[in-house]
Parts: sequence; structure tokens; C-alpha cells
Amino acid sequence: MRHDLANGPLGVVVIGAGDLGSRHAQHWHAAGARVVAVCDPWLERAREVAALVGAEAATHPGAHLSRDDVHVVSVCTPTFLHESYTVAAIEAGKHVLCEKPAALTVSAAERMKAAAELHDRELRLGLMRRFDPAHHEILRRHALLGGPTLAQATIVAGLRPKRMMHDARGNGGPVIDMCCHLFDLWRVIFDGQPESVSAHGYTFAEGRSELASIEEKALDSALFTLTYPGGRVGQVQISWGLPSGVQYIERHSYVGPDGLLIVNWNNGMSLYRGPHPEHWDAPEHDAWRAQIAQFYRELTEGAPRQVATIDDGIDALRISLAVLRSVAERREVRLDEELERIPPLEPEVLG
Ligand SMILES: NC(=O)c1ccc[n+]([C@@H]2O[C@H](COP(=O)([O-])OP(=O)(O)OC[C@H]3O[C@@H](n4cnc5c(N)ncnc54)[C@H](O)[C@@H]3O)[C@@H](O)[C@H]2O)c1
Repeated sequence: MRHDLANGPLGVVVIGAGDLGSRHAQHWHAAGARVVAVCDPWLERAREVAALVGAEAATHPGAHLSRDDVHVVSVCTPTFLHESYTVAAIEAGKHVLCEKPAALTVSAAERMKAAAELHDRELRLGLMRRFDPAHHEILRRHALLGGPTLAQATIVAGLRPKRMMHDARGNGGPVIDMCCHLFDLWRVIFDGQPESVSAHGYTFAEGRSELASIEEKALDSALFTLTYPGGRVGQVQISWGLPSGVQYIERHSYVGPDGLLIVNWNNGMSLYRGPHPEHWDAPEHDAWRAQIAQFYRELTEGAPRQVATIDDGIDALRISLAVLRSVAERREVRLDEELERIPPLEPEVLG
């Protein structure tokens, strides 16, 4: 499994040359890998990103996936395409770093996992907040609050400039696209998966002209409660349905018998355990870069596994789908129910 650098650099193909594809290409390059090709049907974009790292540009990855000097594929396309590119890359014998969320359906994510198991390849997910200092600072301070804690998160923003984010069949909306990060953090805080979900939700942007071209708009706003083992609870208020231009705001609070922790994700956090609060300011840090540097070390040096796995992605997706089902069926949904809601698309992608 480990790549021996004596046989040449770790070769990478990046699929999707948007914001995340550009980050992946540059971070692989900085980590020491050789980015062989950047692929995007929008060739001009592929060329721009490829030029940053001295790679070839292509409209589709087909020819590059069979190359012996390619060992890893970064899948950075819209979410509904993650499965097809991931499975094709794995079947070609490559390891994959796929952007989060894993997919739009559990069955699609399970097929990705099955391919990785069958071909004995690494399949990891870009839950890069694990490499954000705020993630670790929350965990460290949360441990000082005593237990059980009551957790609350508010994540709001105006309509996302990338309309695909609002497409139920594209990126799936914020409950799938954004909440996976929070669920990954809360799994550590609550030491496991929730048992049930109770949610209310809306599509605030239903009538907005900016989204008129989207046939099936994703739910963009929800309030939900996750009940974890032992009756511990987390509550989430999320919306991407505010007017265009409203800035992204993310706040968490954790209350326990020994204190209160208030987090302002992009800025820092304050811990209240007595008369004098303790403040922490978030440093400048690139979690995507740290994640890829770590995956590079895992693949080339056998460093201990830290980058999220497909199982982590499936766990997060199951919670998202339980939230959407709870909204749709107006009832509490248990995580051990069958959770498969959004029908998979069958796109022509591999040319
Ligand atoms: N880790 C994070 O925090 C984070 C942040 C933002 C986005 N993401 C995820 O990354 C993925 C990409 O998001 P983005 O913000 O870079 O989007 P983007 O729109 O900037 O880029 C997506 C690119 O994929 C290309 N594409 C479209 N169809 C394709 C096809 N058939 N084959 C290959 N490429 C195709 C588009 O032309 C575009 O260049 C999404 O799954 C998103 O959820 C993760």
C-alpha cells in the first residue's frame, strides 16, 4: 500500500478544477507529489489550474487513470459525480481523496466503499476541519466543561453563489454539504453516532429568481435536535436561505456543569468557568493544505491514519439523510432506520 519514493514521485490526478480542485492540485504539489493531470470538462479551467503545478490539462481523466505513474486521484467535482469518478479511479488501481460529502445517497457511498475494499485501495474523504486548530481547541476545552454538555450550533449564510449548492441533485444543500463537518466533530464530542433526529425544515429560497433554473431545490434551512446515547443532545440551526450577500456565520455553544464554551468558528472561542473568561483567537491556518500533507505522509511514510475514511463520510451522510427524512415525514427518525432518500442520478461523465 505504501508508495516507495525510490520508484519516483507520488503521481496525482485531480478531477474537477474549481475551488477545491485548485486547492488540491496546489497542496499535492507543495507536499512533494507530482500532479500529472488536472481534468475538467471546462478545459480553460483545467488549463489554469494545471499551469499552477506544471500538469497536463484534459477534459476527462480516462487516459490518465491507466498511467503507471499515477497513484492517487483527488475527486473535486460536484457531489453527485463523486461516486462515478471515485469508483473509476479505484478500479484503475488508484487511491482516492474524495471531497466531502461522500455522496448524496448511502447506497452510492457504500458502492464507493465496496470498490475500495475489493481493490484494496485507500479511499479518504476531505473532512478537512479535522486539521483546523479550532476543531482541536473545541475538543480540548469541551473536556473541561464536565458532563453531560448541551451543544448548540448556528450556521447561516446568504444564498450560496455556487447554485449547485442549492440543487438537491447536485451538492444536496447545507444539511448534506455543510453539516457533515459538524457531525464529524460531534461524533468525537458525544463519543458516537446519534440515536435519533427530530427536525423541522424549509426551503426559504424556493421562490428566489437566482435559483429559478434549479428543478429540485434542496432544503436550505432547518432546526434539528440530535439525541445521542445517554440522552445527550445537540441542536443545530442551519440556513443558506438568507438574502444573497449575507456573510457566513458559524457559532457553537457548549454548556456543561463546569462551564460554557462559545465558539465563533472563523475567529476564536471563549471559555467561561469562573469570573475571568479565557479567550482563544484562531490563527491563520490552511486545513486543506494540512490534510493533504498528512495524506501524503500516510501514503509515502506509513504515518498513522488521520484523514477521514469513507466510513466517516457514511456516518455523517446517514445523519444528514435522517434530518431530511424527519423534515419530510414530520416525525422523529432513528438512525438505525433504512435511510435512502435522494434518488441517484446516472450522469454521463466518463467519456
Ligand atoms: N472540504 C470542504 O470544506 C469543501 C468546501 C467547498 C466544497 N467542497 C466540496 O468539493 C466539491 C467541489 O466543490 P467546489 O467548491 O470546488 O465546486 P466548483 O464549482 O468550484 O468546482 C467544481 C468543478 O467541477 C467541474 N465539473 C463539473 N462537471 C464535471 C465532470 N463531469 N467531470 C469533471 N469535472 C466536472 C466544474 O466544471 C467545476 O470546475 C463538492 O463536492 C463540494 O461539496 C468541500
